[in-house]
Amino acid sequence: MALFAKKETPKAEFSVLPNHIGIIMDGNGRWAKKRGLPRTAGHKAGSEVFKKIAKECGRLGIKEATFYAFSTENWKRPKEEVNALMGLFKDYLIDAENDLTASGNIRVRFIGERNGISQELLHLMDEAEIETGKRNGTLVNIAVNYGGRQEIVSAVNKLIANGKTKITENDISDSVYTMPDCDLIIRPSGEERLSNFLLWQAAYSEFWYSDVLWPDFKEKDLHSALAEFEKRNRRFGG
Ligand code: FPP
Repeated sequence: MALFAKKETPKAEFSVLPNHIGIIMDGNGRWAKKRGLPRTAGHKAGSEVFKKIAKECGRLGIKEATFYAFSTENWKRPKEEVNALMGLFKDYLIDAENDLTASGNIRVRFIGERNGISQELLHLMDEAEIETGKRNGTLVNIAVNYGGRQEIVSAVNKLIANGKTKITENDISDSVYTMPDCDLIIRPSGEERLSNFLLWQAAYSEFWYSDVLWPDFKEKDLHSALAEFEKRNRRFGG
């Protein structure tokens, strides 16, 4: 009976899709505070939203999506919070069988400084990259122990170590962790700053902000950002 027919979510159609989007997953702490919960509960809820939105990027056919999960500055947070975040990354990867399979054809890659991350987590990261590496869906970059300045400095150091004495923009583009330019940066939670995210790749990014806190972020919010992106007139300085 039509009345009981399962409602299909209509596939959002966009005439222009960004090749590469960056998402700053912000507002977990405030979300938890509003509910009288510890900050770690906000991160846990945020990690479920990460899985949902990564999957949606895959469904929409976005080529690459970079999620800011842990910055080089986040080590300054209380030990308990840092451990909880590392635990969430581990859980996601240990449950890779379910999470990564359920998330369709997405490929997972970690970007950031490996120094400082436990051997156990590094091993899980490597395994997930290998396991999903042969897929051809959305490349999901998870930025862990990542800083945009650190990324540029490390790219330059790599070039120097390889004997380069005169460095061009292309050299740096080829040496940063990921390089298609980032077309769209999404930041929920009402903050309107870049916070050391994708500094090199964001040279011509469009920005989309929203007051919604990351754990409340839904597919429809991603669609709103994409709909807004469709309307932007990008001139790249020309
Ligand atoms: C910033 O919000 C958020 C973080 C520092 C952590 C983001 C990490 C996740 C959502 C988990 C991702 C999980 C996987 C598996 C990739 P905040 O806590 O600083 O929020 P606040 O500004 O409200 O305090």
